[in-house]
Amino acid sequence: MAVVARGARRPGPRAVNLADSGPTAAASAVIQRRNRSPVPAPILPSLTAAKSSPSRADVLVVGVTGNPDSPTVVGCPADVAKATEKALGVGIDAAVRAAGATPSVGSTAVVVGARGQRLLAVGVGEDEPTPAQLRKAAGAAVRAAGALPGKGTSVALALPVEEPEAAQAVAEGAVLGAYRYRPIGESDEPAQVGAVSVVTGGGRELDRAVARGVTVASAVAQAREWINVPPNLLYPETFAEQAREHVRDSRISVEVLDEKALAKGGYGGILAVGGGSSRGPRLVRYSYAPRGAKTHIALVGKGITFDSGGLNLKPGDSMYNMKDDMSGAAAVLAATRAIAELGLGVKVTAYASMAENIPSNTSYRPSDVLTMYGGTTVENGNTDAEGRLVMADALVRATEDKPDMIIDVATLTGACMVALGMDTAGVMSNDEDLSDHVLAAAESAGELMWPLPIPESTKEELTSSKVADIKSTGSRMGGALYAAAFLREFVGDVTWAHLDIAGPAYRESSDNAHLGVGGTGAAVATLVALAQSYAS
Ligand code: BES
Ligand code: MN
Ligand code: ZN
Repeated sequence: MAVVARGARRPGPRAVNLADSGPTAAASAVIQRRNRSPVPAPILPSLTAAKSSPSRADVLVVGVTGNPDSPTVVGCPADVAKATEKALGVGIDAAVRAAGATPSVGSTAVVVGARGQRLLAVGVGEDEPTPAQLRKAAGAAVRAAGALPGKGTSVALALPVEEPEAAQAVAEGAVLGAYRYRPIGESDEPAQVGAVSVVTGGGRELDRAVARGVTVASAVAQAREWINVPPNLLYPETFAEQAREHVRDSRISVEVLDEKALAKGGYGGILAVGGGSSRGPRLVRYSYAPRGAKTHIALVGKGITFDSGGLNLKPGDSMYNMKDDMSGAAAVLAATRAIAELGLGVKVTAYASMAENIPSNTSYRPSDVLTMYGGTTVENGNTDAEGRLVMADALVRATEDKPDMIIDVATLTGACMVALGMDTAGVMSNDEDLSDHVLAAAESAGELMWPLPIPESTKEELTSSKVADIKSTGSRMGGALYAAAFLREFVGDVTWAHLDIAGPAYRESSDNAHLGVGGTGAAVATLVALAQSYAS
């Protein structure tokens, strides 16, 4: 069964819209056009489920488990073990031990196997591996295979995958490990990793699990790609175009509101935040409405294509990675497409709120009073607290669809990173049941998330404004909780959960086994798992 993961080449951004001219916009448009490059599709291998281990693969991956002092190989097909033993004159366990293999998850060691085929031994843990461990191990193995000399290296993964969850995790890890951002200007040369197969031993259920893994991980890779594209190329207009392109061949219908439509609709939050940039804001709406769906999930993502802080300018060091501030939008768009591709029986409406937060003479200011979509007035505390404003408009809009629940995803606060570190997302909600559901979905998807409270005192503080219904910011202490408390005011009585992914959205180093530097696609897999849990 062939499950091709390679994304179709998508056209790049068209010439910049000159409608909002003015000399600055015109000049930057000229420069922009000159530097225009297509936004590339993610580089992914073609991945198949294989019955037996293709002995022709350049690299055969086997798992290493057991006691660190005397690790043993798991998942190696008997014929391969035999051939290797014959070629090397020692047992396969002895061979990988000599190469320094350990059961530590994601550690790798290479042995030259039979007929020059490389045997790549990857640690899968000392005990029976969990899906999360297999995902990480498969990703690390594929990354290590890609680092070997030669292009288009074919890889066969012979890891322990008796259960569908394990097969899906291995497929996910393999696709994620093979993903690489292709820098602008680099030619279309073959990727480091060519064909990848997951050795399942056959069976339709395992094949389907592999296909599911490919769909989920391709969505994660798409989100990573959008995050990694530099912010001079991916801005609200081009991001919205990409979003449209992304679902052209799917069962999702798409609508885009541009700055004119946003003004007509009264989207005061998105317009204020986007007002400082010559590149106007956008609100993208996806709708996936399969017949027979019993549950309707609304998703809302923060899509700040660059967060300079605005007039409350960020110091340079904290600004550098702020192209990742659209990770929430990337996550909800990519996840919705995966949900549709899997044909899950659940209705999904997704909103991506896109704006660039840049200082200029048309910027919004601290102390401005904004009239949000739906009429609530907000006293703006700080132009760097822009995320909650673009989210609030989209949340109100989402409630109009009468969903059963709203899940929002945003790189919302530095405070959440201080609270939970770089690997764990914060989950805040007005409903404990939903919060539990989200946490369970995260667990099954292999993502780290942790609940945080929204104390009642936060509401008192936010509603103490003398000039508006609500202030946008509270105290610096507990900043993630104030942001959540603010958002909660815009969902009415709809069941809602908020995922603050400021920490896990982006990695500056490649220490994480199956993810390299850059955007991680945080929350995509969790959203798909959540939709699956509600599917009828
Ligand atoms: N996009 C940032 C949050 C962020 C910081 C994400 C670091 C990823 C890494 C957000 O817009 C922001 O600037 N938040 C402020 C809010 C404050 C001004 C109330 C923050 O967290 O400092
Ligand atoms: Mn900000
Ligand atoms: Zn931001």
